[in-house]
Amino acid sequence: MDIPYYFLQMGICLLIMIFIFLYIYFTRNFNHWKNKNVSYIKPFPFLGSIYNGILMRHCMGEIFSDIYFKTVRPFIGFFVLDKPCLLLRNPQIIKRILINDFQYFYDRNILNNKRDDPIATHVLFILKNPEWKEVRSKITPIFTSSKIKVMSKLMENVAEEMVHYLNKKIQHNAIIEIKDICLKFIVDVISTTAFGVNAYSFKNENSEFNTIAKTLLDWDNILNSFRIRCYILTPKIAKLFKMCFLNPYCTRVLKKRFLEIMDSRTISKINRNDLIDILLRMKENKQFTDEDAVVAQAVTFFVAGSETTSSTMGFALYEIAHHPDIQRRLRTEIGNAAQQHEGINFDSVREMPYLDMCVKEVLRKYPVIPFLERKCNNNYKIPETDVVIERGTPVFISVLGLHYDPQYFPNPEVFDPERFSKNNEDQIEKFVYLPFGDGPRNCIGARFGIVSAKLGLAYIISNFIVDICEDTQDKIKFNPNGLVLSSIKGISLKLRKI
Ligand code: HEM
Repeated sequence: MDIPYYFLQMGICLLIMIFIFLYIYFTRNFNHWKNKNVSYIKPFPFLGSIYNGILMRHCMGEIFSDIYFKTVRPFIGFFVLDKPCLLLRNPQIIKRILINDFQYFYDRNILNNKRDDPIATHVLFILKNPEWKEVRSKITPIFTSSKIKVMSKLMENVAEEMVHYLNKKIQHNAIIEIKDICLKFIVDVISTTAFGVNAYSFKNENSEFNTIAKTLLDWDNILNSFRIRCYILTPKIAKLFKMCFLNPYCTRVLKKRFLEIMDSRTISKINRNDLIDILLRMKENKQFTDEDAVVAQAVTFFVAGSETTSSTMGFALYEIAHHPDIQRRLRTEIGNAAQQHEGINFDSVREMPYLDMCVKEVLRKYPVIPFLERKCNNNYKIPETDVVIERGTPVFISVLGLHYDPQYFPNPEVFDPERFSKNNEDQIEKFVYLPFGDGPRNCIGARFGIVSAKLGLAYIISNFIVDICEDTQDKIKFNPNGLVLSSIKGISLKLRKI
């Protein structure tokens, strides 16, 4: 036998052995759910059960919703690569995991990478206990109703700038990319309330903060989407490859700008009652000693608030454009409330029950964060069953699945704000409507998001008639790269000045 042939044979044998070893390793858990007598989605070796999501063929929200509709049982197992995970369907079990038995599920599965990601590590969404509990209680006071009322004055100024911008824009071209407008609006709202600066998104198309918001959660940037997906689904891989949750360039710029703003605020001693003032006070009181931890709280507004709120507004205007009757009723209600409260403001928006019903229905049909996740941190026996969720198991809840389940929301494809009328809302089963999650780890910015979205929408609807046009999609298709629900094509609408 000549030497090269011998090496070729050895090489092939080695490759086969490596393959067999990897195969055994990656399939070692595949009987996990079978052994527990839990129905599960059959996994493929190396890829698990949701390879379409990992390979970014479908949006993650739709993947979890597909799993939800694969069974009628209270929960179903599946695998991310080789990791056993559980999807909960039953509202009573969901309530236990999110609230009653929170002590078993106080963390998310998402990676917290202190070593490679110094800012994101302090972002509330990512923080693990006990740090999460400490930081959550420190920043909760930022979101009280009275603080948001003060911030709403700043939101009104931005809404007026938006109307001014739209007035000019529709003179040249009546077709508007509405998601872009909503993003500009919320970026300016966040910049002025959180950073104490005007981002000038409506004056400058390439404004620094607007560009950062677009880059941070740019789902068309495959690398961005892949990184964030790995952080949530495969934290070990994200850690192995030293990935950052947030685009490092964006966090660098945000940190630099935020520290400059804090310095100038300290020197000028101007009090704006915004996030900067609150964080400065916390720094003085030594509530935050780490500089990155302070910056992270401002970054949180950008990451958690911009895409969620602007998408909600975009989806709302899309539905309102398709339903002129709903739009007319809204306009009348907004006009009446504005008359009683000297314009569209924090107080008048609270007197708009139909707007409230519409926003709730938008969040039912388009829950921008379409799934919730928690990690089991101690073996947990699901009450009234023999099933034990083992420590370390990621647990998911498909918000999109629940919101489209006809047993809870008949004709789920139909946009019907009446579902949330005073009489009907009480009939909705508890823990099946979860646009802001629930329990101690629910959305801390829900009130801020709702007030800013309602203000922005009320300003648009009272100044413009919103129509569909030839470019408007018949049905929103979700971006397969997106972790949150976002339209693949943008949302084109026609605005006419009233
Ligand atoms: C319409 C707008 C918004 C929607 C639909 C939304 C939705 C959500 C959802 C579903 C969660 C997960 C809750 C859970 O796991 O139980 C969440 C968490 C969070 N949201 Fe929001 N959000 C919105 C706006 C905002 C805004 C404006 C901010 C900040 C200014 C914000 C900050 C956060 C933070 C920090 C968390 C993590 C909370 C924690 O882990 O303690 N959100 N949001």
